[in-house]
Amino acid sequence: MSTSRNAIADHLSEDLPYKLSPEDVFLTSGCTQAIEIVVSVLSRPGLVFLFYEARCAFSGLEVRHFNLVPEREWEIDLNMVEALADGNTAAMVVINPCNPCGSVFSYQHLAKVAETAQNLGIVIIADEVYDHLVFGKKPFVPMGAFGQITPILTLGFISKRWGVPGWRLGWIATSDPKHILKETKVVQCIKSFLDISTDPATFVQGAVTAIIKNTNGDFFNKIIEALRKSSELCCEKLQEIDCVRCPSKPEGSMSLLVELNLSSLDGIQDDFEFCCKLAKEESVIVLPGTAVGLKNWLRVSFAVELSSLDDALDRLKSFCRRHRKKTH
Ligand SMILES: *Cc1c(COP(=O)(O)O)cnc(C)c1O
Ligand SMILES: *[C@@H]1O[C@H](CO)[C@@H](O)[C@H](O)[C@H]1NC(C)=O
Repeated sequence: MSTSRNAIADHLSEDLPYKLSPEDVFLTSGCTQAIEIVVSVLSRPGLVFLFYEARCAFSGLEVRHFNLVPEREWEIDLNMVEALADGNTAAMVVINPCNPCGSVFSYQHLAKVAETAQNLGIVIIADEVYDHLVFGKKPFVPMGAFGQITPILTLGFISKRWGVPGWRLGWIATSDPKHILKETKVVQCIKSFLDISTDPATFVQGAVTAIIKNTNGDFFNKIIEALRKSSELCCEKLQEIDCVRCPSKPEGSMSLLVELNLSSLDGIQDDFEFCCKLAKEESVIVLPGTAVGLKNWLRVSFAVELSSLDDALDRLKSFCRRHRKKTH
């Protein structure tokens, strides 16, 4: 256990201005359990959350949504965060690189996010499941780099970057050089929670050190190169389809968002109906934006083999052509 926590602390510290210790790292059964823990730990009756909808609903917490602005490369609308938060707000969630938008936040934007959280007196939950899966112009900057400004709980997971989703190993790391999370007993609460829940399987824990320390750089380069190619193909082909609009090229993660132009389509009411008909007629699955709070948008995953992606986008194109409103 301590060696895997060591390995994760070293791994995360590579990108931070200070060093994490193994005591700053808590192992979880995947990211889903990490989410469960931070939600439970930060919740007291009456508290309000700015995130992770399903889990919060289950715990009877209120979720408030802030917008990401497509015209500004999906940056967080921080004025809206300020307007939404009140004395009961406990935390905000920042997913970077972003699933579903495919965006990567700049250093400057993350600094502003940290300052906003500091002003509001809230914790940032940084979901960095896609850390380093970037292929655009901006580098990945961990939220933990701003731990001096406001306490950060970073959630990570070996599934996406190391490609082992079934191994169910994740972590919560506290980036908190000012020890605010210790003083407010959040850290103690995380420990108590883990004391009464199951640990990740021992053989997976045993493998983590080797996974993190010995994975060849070529392995990551190959994945990133594949994502770069498939994201480019995806953008190129989407541009040829006139019923959708892609506001910005993805720079990270494995998906992007496009806006549907319903007025160019005949007999399709909304994103949900679009996706159902597309699945039925072309056997192509895209997620309706409604599922991520964006009505009449579509989330397109490009983490598929190039030839399948190419085929799927051709089918999307002929679907749109077939349902195009006739003009006279
Ligand atoms: C995939 C993913 C996770 C991890 O979820 P698991 O089901 O536990 O693997 C967490 N957050 C985001 C944003 C993800 O895309
Ligand atoms: C949407 O489609 C209509 C009809 O084809 C077209 O007139 C309009 O310009 C399109 N809007 C956008 C934002 O592309």
